[in-house]
Amino acid sequence: MGSLSGKKIILGVTGGIAAYKSPDLVRRLREQGAEVQVVMSAGARQFVTPITFQAVSGRPVRDDLWDPAGEAAMGHIELARWADLVLVAPATADCIARAATGRADDLLTTLLLATEAKVAIAPAMNRVMWAHPATQANVALLRERGVVLLGPGSGAQACGETGAGRMLEPVELGARVAALLGTEGPLRGCRVLITAGPTRERIDPVRFISNRSSGKMGFAVAAAARAAGAEVVLVAGPVVLPTPEGVRRVDVESAADMHDAVLRELPGTQIYISTAAVADYRPAQPVDRKIKKTESALDLDLERTVDILAAVAAQPQRPFVVGFAAETNDVEMHARQKLTRKNLDLIAANEVGDDKVFEKDDNALLVLWRDGGRQGIGPGPKTLIARELLALIVKRWRETGAAAAAASTAAAPHGLPQLGIVR
Ligand code: CTP
Repeated sequence: MGSLSGKKIILGVTGGIAAYKSPDLVRRLREQGAEVQVVMSAGARQFVTPITFQAVSGRPVRDDLWDPAGEAAMGHIELARWADLVLVAPATADCIARAATGRADDLLTTLLLATEAKVAIAPAMNRVMWAHPATQANVALLRERGVVLLGPGSGAQACGETGAGRMLEPVELGARVAALLGTEGPLRGCRVLITAGPTRERIDPVRFISNRSSGKMGFAVAAAARAAGAEVVLVAGPVVLPTPEGVRRVDVESAADMHDAVLRELPGTQIYISTAAVADYRPAQPVDRKIKKTESALDLDLERTVDILAAVAAQPQRPFVVGFAAETNDVEMHARQKLTRKNLDLIAANEVGDDKVFEKDDNALLVLWRDGGRQGIGPGPKTLIARELLALIVKRWRETGAAAAAASTAAAPHGLPQLGIVR
């Protein structure tokens, strides 16, 4: 059963070049069990034919507010009530502007006004149009009204420019929608605590020690865990990433802050995934005033930070503990040593170097576990790697019996079996 099983989605397609990706999005949503009704704007028909959407969705496309046959089958108000989600992908600048002003002069805008379901938009347009204050004001207004913004991503655009405004890829949109709506999945009822990003260790009020971690891998793992039905808490160091849908985020700065937040959030956690690049050292005496330069060299006295991962693994009733290892050489040997030394259930190792992994969208992992087991994942986009990693974590978690032990210690109040609470 997919994580969108039984969910009903209206997919609004508007007239942008990214509409060529929307049939693939329909397929991704249906693969996860959703029923998809496509509603096209007049502009969308310039890019993709209704027959394509009919073939992939298994339903006749609706594109006309005044279509007697369509209205007789399911009137627009009925259609608006039918949906659990109205997703507009791609959402053009014009569609966003019309939704923001509450227009209802075609079927899609009418549905956006008439629905009480969740509404999500995946903008797609040229970078200058996206950055325009009019578009930004319209988007801000829609967000204020509870519309969920999915993307846009950045990169090469159909117009030949590079920048923000690309529609997110169908595979990523599929995962985000699952996170938004999904309650099913192998981790339903389970709490997953994830750390991500770098930490910053203060030297003085204007300087700090940090590292090149972007947090992308941890955020992708958080989205994947949410899509698998888990309650997800994401403890994040300083990163510039949007919070994945449905995930609770706790922002921290230093290793000490992260340690405090993790210990605070740990009760009730069944799986702990430590993707953060936590600083191993911090200035022993951070100062309150800016350090002024002198002619002589400056010595910084550094002291060790707490190893948060090892601290979690040492808890008497610990969750299933997953660590990461960033290595420049002898990846497998170092990772296996870390697995044993920190007493982990599983470790995901990657090779890092000047041009590898950090700040990148792609990654490849070597995953190791206790009885000598190993599995490679990738290379591929971090979103996909995260999903595969999560599937492996769930498999190992079940095999080690931790899941069963957790389930046997707790009974749901309504009598249904529930994954239990480890404190
Ligand atoms: N970690 C942690 N707290 C720290 C340092 C690291 O929780 N103070 C976690 C990271 O989140 C990661 C794992 O430990 O999951 C491995 O971190 P890494 O820095 O690669 O390994 P170390 O054990 O610190 O060894 P070394 O730096 O010598 O490679």
